[in-house]
Amino acid sequence: MCKVFSREFSNASIPCAICNKSSIVTIIHASMRRLKTEVTPVLEAVIMNPPEFPQMRMRRLRSLPGLRAMVRENHLRVEDLIYPLFVYHGQNLKREIKSMPGQFQWSMDRLHEIIDQVVALRIPAVLIFGIPLEKDEAGQVGCDDQGIVQTAVRLIKSRAPQLVVITDLCFCEYTSHGHCGPLIQTDHGLDVDNDATLPLLAQQAVSHARAGADVIAPSGMMDGMIAAIRSGLDQAGFTNLPIMSYAAKFASGYYGPFRDAAESAPSFGDRRTYQMDPANAIEAIREVALDVAEGADMVMVKPGLSYLDILYRVKSEFKLPTAVYNVSGEYAMVKAASINGWIDERRVVMETLLAFKRAGADMIITYHALDAAGWLLDNGTGS
Ligand code: PBG
Ligand code: ZN
Repeated sequence: MCKVFSREFSNASIPCAICNKSSIVTIIHASMRRLKTEVTPVLEAVIMNPPEFPQMRMRRLRSLPGLRAMVRENHLRVEDLIYPLFVYHGQNLKREIKSMPGQFQWSMDRLHEIIDQVVALRIPAVLIFGIPLEKDEAGQVGCDDQGIVQTAVRLIKSRAPQLVVITDLCFCEYTSHGHCGPLIQTDHGLDVDNDATLPLLAQQAVSHARAGADVIAPSGMMDGMIAAIRSGLDQAGFTNLPIMSYAAKFASGYYGPFRDAAESAPSFGDRRTYQMDPANAIEAIREVALDVAEGADMVMVKPGLSYLDILYRVKSEFKLPTAVYNVSGEYAMVKAASINGWIDERRVVMETLLAFKRAGADMIITYHALDAAGWLLDNGTGS
């Protein structure tokens, strides 16, 4: 017998914190408190008298497709999708990325082909990565107004003015060593010079802004980067340009195929001195809190699938516009299995994208965007 709710309970998995008896009431109550759901009097009454089997049968609402659609809690919409694009130097190129079947490096003169597809499918946004012809120690070409990303942004904005153009802001594509900023000798060897990278990031951001970027997305995980970029943009007059921060970005093995695609693999070492340790969750909240305090308008969790718990916590804690990056390695695994006939690609992709929504994502950056948008047009749910 539970003293608080004066009822006999059969479910004995979690003891009531107050009377130490187990109950489904206690379980629901505790989980609602955790989720910060408001417990209204009506809800309280329902909780006080939980119908149990055989009066309650959860399968009743699963019997018909129409019924299932009516009680569905989360939905994927085409407006949730952001498509990442790789722009390459050279001409007449549509080079398939080996580890990312169906994804290409595009030269400027053929970029319109993919932009027209994105627009036709009503995907609202693209995220631009550029691979320049020349690289140097500090990645100066990244700040060039005539650089590859800047040129691509101008081209996209003139062809599709309504398309939201987000630029990835980092130096790893532009440095000869492939790290996310200029290097400095430390007691532990060569490492990215955090504070020297900040003004360069601000410079690159202003250059993207001048080219017409709609959102700046810094991905380098430098301390203080959001504040530096915000003040750089403001001083240059771009006070209205939003920043989407790669706030909780983990040092992940899932970036492997991307580094082929962007030709940005570090030539020595790894990114563990600036990207986060995959073991840490509380630290992710601190990272996001700092970026928010520095002026981030939107935050991102990356990668996606192995970090759904982080996504959930970030959305629940901050309630800010939150993006998730369904990264290259996640894409590669799904493609490999589906090409082998081991999984149903459409089903698995839609299930994955819905998982991001359920976990709290408002925006999903995904290489599956074109396929998913097509499937959504097909029947509304994509399934
Ligand atoms: C650059 C950057 C990376 C990705 C996005 N921006 C690679 C990295 O940090 O090494 C990864 C994207 C993907 O794997 O799809 N800082
Ligand atoms: Zn980088």
